[in-house]
Amino acid sequence: MSNNKVLKNTLWPYRNLVVVGGNWGDEGKGKIIDLVMEHYDVTVRFSGGANAGHTVFTPDHQKLVSHLIPCGLAQHKECVMGRGELVDLRLFLEELEQAKKVLGGRLPKIYLDQMSPLWTPWHGLLEAWLEFARGKGKVGTTGKGIGPLEGLYKLRIAPLVGQVFLERKKFIGILELLYKTLQPVFKEMRAKGLIVSVGNGRDRSLQGNIPNPTQVADLLRSYAPKIKPFVTDTSFVLHQGIKNKQRMLFEGAQALGLDSRFGTYPYVSSGNSAAFGASEGTGLPMQSFGATLMVVKTLPTRVGSGPFPSEMWRRQEAMEFVKKNIELFTDKSAKAEFLNRRLEKINAGKASNAELSQYFQVLGDERGATTGRGRSVGFIDIPWLLYSIRINGPKWLALTRFDMLSGVKTVPVVVGYRLNGKLLAPGQLPPPWDMDKVNPVFENWPGWKENIYGLNDEKTLPKAANNFLNHLENHLKTQILLVGTGPGRKDIVVRV
Ligand code: IMP
Repeated sequence: MSNNKVLKNTLWPYRNLVVVGGNWGDEGKGKIIDLVMEHYDVTVRFSGGANAGHTVFTPDHQKLVSHLIPCGLAQHKECVMGRGELVDLRLFLEELEQAKKVLGGRLPKIYLDQMSPLWTPWHGLLEAWLEFARGKGKVGTTGKGIGPLEGLYKLRIAPLVGQVFLERKKFIGILELLYKTLQPVFKEMRAKGLIVSVGNGRDRSLQGNIPNPTQVADLLRSYAPKIKPFVTDTSFVLHQGIKNKQRMLFEGAQALGLDSRFGTYPYVSSGNSAAFGASEGTGLPMQSFGATLMVVKTLPTRVGSGPFPSEMWRRQEAMEFVKKNIELFTDKSAKAEFLNRRLEKINAGKASNAELSQYFQVLGDERGATTGRGRSVGFIDIPWLLYSIRINGPKWLALTRFDMLSGVKTVPVVVGYRLNGKLLAPGQLPPPWDMDKVNPVFENWPGWKENIYGLNDEKTLPKAANNFLNHLENHLKTQILLVGTGPGRKDIVVRV
């Protein structure tokens, strides 16, 4: 049976599928969503905002980068931006323009929620202030105003998307409370010379000045005619979709480690990245969701700051390594030579953890899609995955970038954590402030010699690679349905 048929049979009973990340983002959710989307009619976002970044491909292989609009756009599926999504209208319109060019003007139906929190240049300023004020402990955000948007929404002083259609005076009135609340911060920022660029540097007319409520209202209202065809009550649209038996795919943004409630707080994003967010961010009842597919990166990565218990090397150094050795990432022959030599050292058992990290950073081209920052790499982390599985409750896992282990003779795997000498129970983790005190318990698992890059048939996987997967599955007690073997859409093994 073809991969597609197996996948169809597997997914068919689950009309509403949630796809989430199990690590700290960048697991390759875009590619997995791209693959399973074929079996769904509608794609839905339910949290996060432009901090997410997915690269997807049209059926004729054209590339489309989406930050706000769900992945279904490229495959001409209906796209719903649920109420839980945070919206920067300028970026939304830019994405639409880009999509129109790539898709030849033919867009699928796109719905934008009238009550989603609405970005203003002030949110960007507040974020800059918070990161400055945290100093060394900064979160390392993507700079898209996500924390302030979500936070100020909870404070009940956020403007909402549909309010741009209100009478000008009324809208200015709504913005005034937010502006007043932020005055002390703006004053402090001015005093410290921190007002460099307003509006993420994207709106030159506002550069260097803090716009007042009238200016912000006029800026946001200027988008009103363009967004009008898309704005609606998406919870109603989704409810109708369910009634009409449409098949829906709910795509998570970020990942469990960045979930504001169950991630490594405060080093998290500000929304619901866990599967439960699909209900909260769309207004669909809990029982609407059939199954969850959790995407996990074989070797987890993290950008920004915060706990990462199975990290191979020190964060700062790992991030700087990318900056200082950019040719290893951009020059094909330098990269190949480095990887060959380093793999020899690793297999001779002579590589330090820093050197292992460097190898996998280069091999995986570990640089952030939204920010271009270097990503730090960790060992396979079974305790973290058991925690992530406990919170997300996936029916299956998609294990991406499994090909990165090709040729590595022995693979160190974290199978447990000790805290104060005591082994933690499966699914249990300490609070984030104690995560740097845990001692990982390693096992060395046998790898395989063959390069599995691009394989897409389970039968062609080397026996040792299959054993590795079975062993991992036994530890995680969850089926690994999909295994990524390369960046291409077809580079995937479907396991029955
Ligand atoms: P924010 O979401 O921009 O507030 O950033 C908070 C944290 O989440 C930072 O450590 C970011 O690097 C991280 N983050 C946010 N979005 C993504 C993503 O899509 N991939 C990986 N990390 C992310």
